[in-house]
Amino acid sequence: MTNLTNRQVVLRRRPTGLVQPGDTELIETAAPELADGEALVRTTYLGIDAAVRTWLDDARGYLPPVAIGDPIRAAGVGEVVETRCDAYAVGDVVTYLPGFQELAVVRDDVFTTVIPGVEDQLAMLTVYGSTGATAYFGMTDIGRPQAGETVVVSAAAGATGSIAGQIAKIAGARVVGIAGGPEKCRVVVEELGFDACIDHRGPDLAAALKEACPQRVDVYFDNVGGPILDAVLGRLAQGGRIVLCGVISSYLTGEHPGPANYTNLLARCGLMQGFNTLHQWDRFPEAFEALRRWEAEGRLVHRAHVHEGLEHAVDALNGLFTGANIGKTVVKVSDPTVG
Ligand SMILES: NC(=O)c1ccc[n+]([C@@H]2O[C@H](COP(=O)([O-])OP(=O)(O)OC[C@H]3O[C@@H](n4cnc5c(N)ncnc54)[C@H](OP(=O)(O)O)[C@@H]3O)[C@@H](O)[C@H]2O)c1
Repeated sequence: MTNLTNRQVVLRRRPTGLVQPGDTELIETAAPELADGEALVRTTYLGIDAAVRTWLDDARGYLPPVAIGDPIRAAGVGEVVETRCDAYAVGDVVTYLPGFQELAVVRDDVFTTVIPGVEDQLAMLTVYGSTGATAYFGMTDIGRPQAGETVVVSAAAGATGSIAGQIAKIAGARVVGIAGGPEKCRVVVEELGFDACIDHRGPDLAAALKEACPQRVDVYFDNVGGPILDAVLGRLAQGGRIVLCGVISSYLTGEHPGPANYTNLLARCGLMQGFNTLHQWDRFPEAFEALRRWEAEGRLVHRAHVHEGLEHAVDALNGLFTGANIGKTVVKVSDPTVG
């Protein structure tokens, strides 16, 4: 395509801890030329997931590391601006894996999905994206909350936790969030409708859990691991279920301190199970149908923490680890023209 330039945030060296200046570079390149079977998509919003940071390390996880010199991998929403692929028409809104860049080439593959009739492109990330689906699969498949049970959710003001807790409320459970700071705790209770929220920065998490969960914890949706997981294990109820969703407390260090209170899984006949949403790809329509219904019924709200401009994508990523975000962290890369 003529007269188009692309901006990309590429990886220059593997970070230690938070991503530092010099670990990445914002560069300008020519817009890619399309071959047969390809389409060009202009990114409107990037979704910033905690997993993005793990892809910058050298170790191979469930996806290979981002190569030095490549744009940082991330999911997003965009509009098709040029096409030589029968699967996409100009103007189609797609969810895809653009990475940290304004323009990306897609093919007719599993990572790119045309979304018909989109009214709100931002919602494709805040609720109808991977974190909403993660909350749905983790809570409904593994947590299985019952009416009257006590459910605890960590990173409760974040993208995944905020939706997971509301799903447990819809199931009739009493839901207690864990979040960092009084403002997040206020949002979790007043805006998301949780029954209570514990500030994990407080002096005694075990005591706070005992007070907030007098009947112990039937379901724990764990987004963080580390000392918070250990404290909740110490409060597990008979037959309790722990949904091992993520371990964000160790993504910057790579160190995974073991929870001493895991012995409660034995004493209380508990279950702790991990899962990866990517393995549920063929069930995304089921998740989104349920989330859409709950939202239409006014039982599910979602929030975005929007950073304006691709140049702020690295700050947005770091913000997940400093706890800067409330709701889904997104970067607005360009103005949507559809929806
Ligand atoms: N299993 C899967 O398939 C799957 C899919 C998507 C996401 N996940 C996982 O879900 C978790 C949440 O991801 P997200 O993208 O939704 O992010 P998020 O919850 O929107 O943001 C991350 C939040 O984690 C909390 N946090 C960061 N460092 C922490 C620490 N050391 N101790 C305690 N809390 C800490 C912060 O909240 P506070 O300020 O409240 O502490 C921060 O706001 C991640 O662990 C991610 O890997 C798993």
